[in-house]
Amino acid sequence: MIKKVQANEVRLGMYIHQIRGNWMEHPFWRKSFKLIQQKDLDKLVSCNLEEIWIDTSKGLDVVKTIQVKNPDGVDSDILPQSIKKPVARVSVEEELHVAKIIQNKAKEAVAAMFDDVRMGKALEIEEAKSLVNEINQSMERNPNALLTLIRLKNVNEYTYMHSVAVCVLMVALGRHLGLSEVQIKQAGTAGLLHDIGKMVIPNEVLNKPGKLTDEEFTIMKSHPVRGWEILKSCYQVHETALDVCLHHHERVDGKGYPEKLSGDALTLFARMGAVCDVYDAISSDRCYKAAWSPAEAIRKMASWKDGHFDESIFQAFVKTVGIYPSGTLLKLQSGRLGVVIEQSTKKLTTPIVKIFFSTRANAHIPAEIIDISKGMDSIESLEDPVKWGFDLNKIQGI
Ligand SMILES: [Fe+2]
Ligand SMILES: [Fe+2]
Repeated sequence: MIKKVQANEVRLGMYIHQIRGNWMEHPFWRKSFKLIQQKDLDKLVSCNLEEIWIDTSKGLDVVKTIQVKNPDGVDSDILPQSIKKPVARVSVEEELHVAKIIQNKAKEAVAAMFDDVRMGKALEIEEAKSLVNEINQSMERNPNALLTLIRLKNVNEYTYMHSVAVCVLMVALGRHLGLSEVQIKQAGTAGLLHDIGKMVIPNEVLNKPGKLTDEEFTIMKSHPVRGWEILKSCYQVHETALDVCLHHHERVDGKGYPEKLSGDALTLFARMGAVCDVYDAISSDRCYKAAWSPAEAIRKMASWKDGHFDESIFQAFVKTVGIYPSGTLLKLQSGRLGVVIEQSTKKLTTPIVKIFFSTRANAHIPAEIIDISKGMDSIESLEDPVKWGFDLNKIQGI
C-alpha cells in the first residue's frame, strides 16, 4: 500500500515511494528507493520535507506509536514529536539573493501553468506547491526580501507577476495571522492560482490600455467563475484555491462579484485574497494607469470605509506589510531622504530606512541604514520618488 508518512515515522527498511518538496533541499536524486543506510535516514529526517510516501508492499510499515507514562504520570509518545528545524533569521540583503531566484522560478512556473490553460492542456500544480513551500521558507528567514521584490513588475508580465505577488502576500498574511503551516501553504497556492481564469479572457480585453466598455467589463468579470471551472477540473487543487479563485472579488458589504456574498458567507481565505489582490493591483503599474506607491496604496485602502474589506483582516495586513511598506521614500526630520528597507519589529511607524540623500545640501550622501525606532531620526513626510527622479530599486539593491 502507498501511504503518506511523517518524517519522524520513517525508519530503516521502509521503501520510499516518493519524496515531495523542494528538490534543492534534499540530496536524493532517485524517486523511489529502499532505505537501508542510517546516513540516508539521517539526511531524510533533517531535510524538513513536505511529504514522504512509502510503499508498504516493498518495505516496512510505520511502527504504531506506544503511549507510555512518564514518572510524573503524564502520557507521552515514545517517538519524537517534531523534527522541524529552527530557521535562522538572516538580513534582508542576504535573503534578497535567494528571494530573487525564488521569484523568477515562481514567475516561470505560473507562466507555464497559465500557458497550459490557454492552450487547453490539463493543469499541473505540483511545482507550484513546491514553490509556495520555498516562498514560505524565505519568509521565515526574512519576510522583507520577497515583500520588496514583488513590487518589481514588467507591465507585459503583469498577470504572472501579480499572481506571484498575491501568493507572497497571502503567505505573509497567513503567517501574521498565525495560521498553521498547512493553511499558510494552501493560502499561498490559492494566491498563485486566483486569476487563472484570466487566461481564457481575450487578450484585447485583458490588456486593453483604455477604459473597458460595459460589455468588455462583463467579460472581464467572468474570470473568477472561469478560473473556478478550470481549477475544479483539476483533482490536485485544494478547496481553498477554488474558494479564493471564485471569491477574491467579493466584498464584505455584498457589493462584489460574482455571487455578491457578504459578511460571514465569505471565508477567511476569501477575505485575505480580496485584500492581497487589491493591494498588489493598485500598487502596480498597469497598461492603463501608473502605480500608487505602497504607502499610498495602504492609505487609499484604509480610507475605503464602506465595507470593501474585512476590517480585522485589513488591519492584520497593514501590520504585515507596514504603514510605510518596503520601497517607500521618506523625508526625515534631519532633511535626509531614505527608502524603507525593512519593518521594525517594535513599531509600525518606525521602519528601518536606508538614507542616501541630503535635501539641505541637495546632494547624495554615503548610504547608511538607520533604525528609526532607536530614535536616530524621525519621519517628516512621505515623498514621491518620481518627483525626485530616484531609482529606488537601485538604492535598495534589487
Ligand atoms: Fe481577479
Ligand atoms: Fe488578481
